Amino acid sequence: MDKPKEHLPKHVAIIMDGNGRWASAHGKARHAGHRAGVRSARAVVEAAAEAGIEVLTLFAFSSENWSRPTDEVNSLMRLFVEVLQREVDALHDNGIQLRFIGARDQLPTILQKRMADAEARTAGNSRMTLVVAIAYGGRWDVLQAVRRIAQKIEAGELQPAELDEAVLSRHMSLAGLPPPDLLIRTGGEYRVSNFLLWDLTYSEIHFCETLWPEFGPEQLEEAVRFFVSRQRRFGRTAAQLEVIGD
Ligand code: FPP
Repeated sequence: MDKPKEHLPKHVAIIMDGNGRWASAHGKARHAGHRAGVRSARAVVEAAAEAGIEVLTLFAFSSENWSRPTDEVNSLMRLFVEVLQREVDALHDNGIQLRFIGARDQLPTILQKRMADAEARTAGNSRMTLVVAIAYGGRWDVLQAVRRIAQKIEAGELQPAELDEAVLSRHMSLAGLPPPDLLIRTGGEYRVSNFLLWDLTYSEIHFCETLWPEFGPEQLEEAVRFFVSRQRRFGRTAAQLEVIGD
């Protein structure tokens, strides 16, 4: 990717959709689609780090995905454990810091442990932060933040009048990271599907038809080109931006 770094999105978030349809189209079981999806994720993580993207957030399992058939949920949980086992060394060697967001107490204990180990192992890395959303929902995220703030108010640590956007942001799962500049959704669906509801306020959104197992560095580059071509106005008029020189 030959874009000057200042024009690149700092934070790219991806809704990886289409594994199941890719599998059906190839006469395979859904599980094979998820395995192919992991290969895409690996290639995209490498390409994003190579391009100088600072944060990449991948939506791996939503709050709503618990309603899928038990067999599929179980095989996804096993796949996440296996992927962590297999990939953490390479991520660590590549200077990537891993961070998980979501209701982790809902996940199998072995997966929770692997996640905590991976976070601890990679905590000192700074080349790129890879955030993986598992058992995550945007509404869950707002609720967990509000619940923690309410506890602080009850304990007298915070006054209701002190609660503002900055305080809420500090309690959201992505606290401390820049909000996503670019959201990509693969698989031809045009929805946000309860992803980062608070954080996506000013994100540019790139929808593409490509099914996730066929999404790779080239498609990432195309999405970044779309981002670079957008004029981000943050509520201002185009004329104001010309004066500011944004
Ligand atoms: C979306 O396709 C896939 C998921 C929600 C499952 C999880 C994603 C992966 C296994 C890929 C990368 C994994 C990691 C660990 C970062 P879908 O099943 O919704 O597809 P469909 O809409 O075609 O049925």
